[in-house]
Amino acid sequence: MNKLKVIGFSGSLRSKSFNNYLLNNFKEISSDIIDLEILNITDIPLYNEDLWNNTPISVIEFKDKVKECNSIIISTPEYNYSYSGVTKNLIDWLSRNPNVLDKKVIGIMGASIGFSGTARAQLQLRPVLTALNTYVLSKPEIYLSYSETKFNKDGKLIDNDTINKIKEYAEEFISFSSNFY
Ligand SMILES: Cc1cc2nc3c(=O)[nH]c(=O)nc-3n(C[C@H](O)[C@H](O)[C@H](O)COP(=O)(O)O)c2cc1C
Repeated sequence: MNKLKVIGFSGSLRSKSFNNYLLNNFKEISSDIIDLEILNITDIPLYNEDLWNNTPISVIEFKDKVKECNSIIISTPEYNYSYSGVTKNLIDWLSRNPNVLDKKVIGIMGASIGFSGTARAQLQLRPVLTALNTYVLSKPEIYLSYSETKFNKDGKLIDNDTINKIKEYAEEFISFSSNFY
């Protein structure tokens, strides 16, 4: 079986980010069925309209990678009951000159240290992605709460419920993607 090619990025710049850990574990757990390429977003500047005159190479490469792929996974932190500014900044870059998210299939997930596991952040992210003409998987959902208890010191998931949820999510994401491509 051909694996589904997927691009992934997280809305955290932190070196020991739980959202980066979540994506890394997703990649490993789903590797039989999904070929997930996780993008490095650390060099993406803050959105500035003036920069389109001399677009940073990091932005060009980021947009090209997303444009080439039909399916995308975004893992977002929750900041003050919403998604992180980094997540919004990345989406803003993707949404203009042109909107490379147009008609893309998107899966969202997130990890936080609180009890809600980014539920509030994801709820606010959905309408933004809908406005950009994307198809966002509704269920299953991955809300990774109390993240500091779910990974070992090397960032490997040690929570079986989450591992099983990721397997279920990966299968559903493939099935959902096949409705569009
Ligand atoms: C400015 C700020 C606001 C935060 N607000 C929330 C919040 O509303 N809900 C929550 O569960 N965690 C919140 N947190 C904690 C984050 O869940 C935690 O920092 C998490 O590790 C961020 O994701 P990362 O590990 O991928 O960087 C907040 C953290 C920061 C820095």
